[in-house]
Amino acid sequence: MPHMLKQVLGSTLTPEEAAHFHSAFDQIGDIVIIKIPDELMPKKKLIADAILANVKTAKTVFAQVSPVRGDYRVRDLELVAGENRTITEYKEHACRFKVDVAKTYFSPRLSTERQRIAGMVGENETIVNMFAGVGTYSVVIAKANKTCRVYSIDSNSAASELDRINAKLNKVQDRVFSICGDAVEVIKDSLAGQADRVLMPLPERAKEFVDSAVLALKEKGIAHYFAHIKADGKKASQEMGLKITHETFAKYDHHILGVRVVREVGPRMFQIVADVSVRR
Ligand SMILES: C[S@@+](CC[C@H](N)C(=O)[O-])C[C@H]1O[C@@H](n2cnc3c(N)ncnc32)[C@H](O)[C@@H]1O
Repeated sequence: MPHMLKQVLGSTLTPEEAAHFHSAFDQIGDIVIIKIPDELMPKKKLIADAILANVKTAKTVFAQVSPVRGDYRVRDLELVAGENRTITEYKEHACRFKVDVAKTYFSPRLSTERQRIAGMVGENETIVNMFAGVGTYSVVIAKANKTCRVYSIDSNSAASELDRINAKLNKVQDRVFSICGDAVEVIKDSLAGQADRVLMPLPERAKEFVDSAVLALKEKGIAHYFAHIKADGKKASQEMGLKITHETFAKYDHHILGVRVVREVGPRMFQIVADVSVRR
């Protein structure tokens, strides 16, 4: 939360209320999404107006009124103040993304991870992004690696359409191929044995897709396996992540290159990513 906003909310909220509010603020382009605790709901308009008045780049404030849910990983939003629109443009690592915050998944909190994976890609790699969303990983990777090819799959047609638009917006449409469909079917039908690298950024369910990810790989390749791990702290989640990844890839000849804690996603719940080298 911007420092100035903290000060402004200090005059709208009690110090306890402001502390509670702290972790629940995301800005995507000119849209702000806040999670308002039940006890602060009566003050939601005051809070949203304070945000619009003090965050110069914000035009709209939505309250998130459901968890991120369903196959498409979207959330219900309620307009609290500002323009009634859910489409915005977000900038990251010299890339631009059109995002529909109501119809597609998007998190600004994964930008470090997108950059890290883009930095691992070598010359002439073929990459399969199984859960591409609006193309965040695909575009950041393609922008940084001119010789790669990225097959960018998503089953949500709204996300897949924005993926295609974002590839064009960032002038990487010659190497990002947007495919709308179920990753399992798309890989089985047309991408088996093609990839040097597979991205699996669906931490809630990635485990179910391990066979498809390995099927997409060439004889040897790397899978970036995302998972949610319940643990008492960051270090414990990393250790647990290593153990769980070994179990998940047990039937394959694999070697774990590293496990990284991406972020804390809830009380005692962490998102991890394991970089797994797999030989078929
Ligand atoms: C957590 S989001 C990640 C999106 C993107 N990688 C990002 O970080 O911005 C997971 C995405 O997987 C898609 N998805 C879920 N099940 C799928 C499936 N079986 N095949 C392809 N895409 C799927 C959802 O529509 C959603 O856009």
